[in-house]
Amino acid sequence: MNILRISCSPRGQEAESHRLSQRIVEGLFERSPNARLMDRMIGQDPVAHIDADIALAQHQGDAGRSGHASLLRSEALIREVEAADILVIATPMHNAGVPSVLKAWIDHVVRSGRTFTVGPEGKTGSLRDRPVLVAVSSGGRYSGERARQPDFLTPYLTAILGMVGLRDLHFFSVQGTGLGEQVVALARIQAEHGIRAYFSSLPERHPVPGALA
Ligand SMILES: Cc1cc2nc3c(=O)[nH]c(=O)nc-3n(C[C@H](O)[C@H](O)[C@H](O)COP(=O)(O)O)c2cc1C
Repeated sequence: MNILRISCSPRGQEAESHRLSQRIVEGLFERSPNARLMDRMIGQDPVAHIDADIALAQHQGDAGRSGHASLLRSEALIREVEAADILVIATPMHNAGVPSVLKAWIDHVVRSGRTFTVGPEGKTGSLRDRPVLVAVSSGGRYSGERARQPDFLTPYLTAILGMVGLRDLHFFSVQGTGLGEQVVALARIQAEHGIRAYFSSLPERHPVPGALA
């Protein structure tokens, strides 16, 4: 089983979102001890923003551009996703949405004619569905009765990954990292419960839906 983790915080391994994703990864290894983990720390080693070649390829197709550096980069990132049985995305909330590094990664991976096609019915994803486990950290709360801010992160990731065929999304979060130690401690416990509930909901015989050990 191949796990691809995309870690989006500039704080790298010290990040709350990365720490939360680590608990998820540990859960995956408990089920599949022979799993392989590929870490992409885009928060500290960002993917470049898209350039004219990718922008033109979106309009006019890839023909004649396939050797260009940015398309090769896009292709490499897409192949990493295709090679993964499970995606783990560790991300902070930035300004009510995803950090710009994650948006840049998405701009490379969500590509017309490659990971989705456009037809009379709209856009159809080309990627095989597989679990995408999203670990979010936020300074304030964005869900529940005490949320005081909008959440564009959850619906955005759900829509954009769904567009390329990734629909099996599960969100875990530590919310309120700016609200004091007690809030963080409680949020971590709640996140842990969420992770345990996810793993105990999976059938015993299959490590993770759609994935081979
Ligand atoms: C540029 C920036 C924008 C942020 N915007 C929000 C926000 O809109 N809502 C929120 O709750 N926290 C916001 N935060 C706080 C982070 O989400 C919070 O510190 C989070 O715990 C960081 O997670 P990390 O340790 O994984 O990087 C923002 C932080 C930064 C640096």
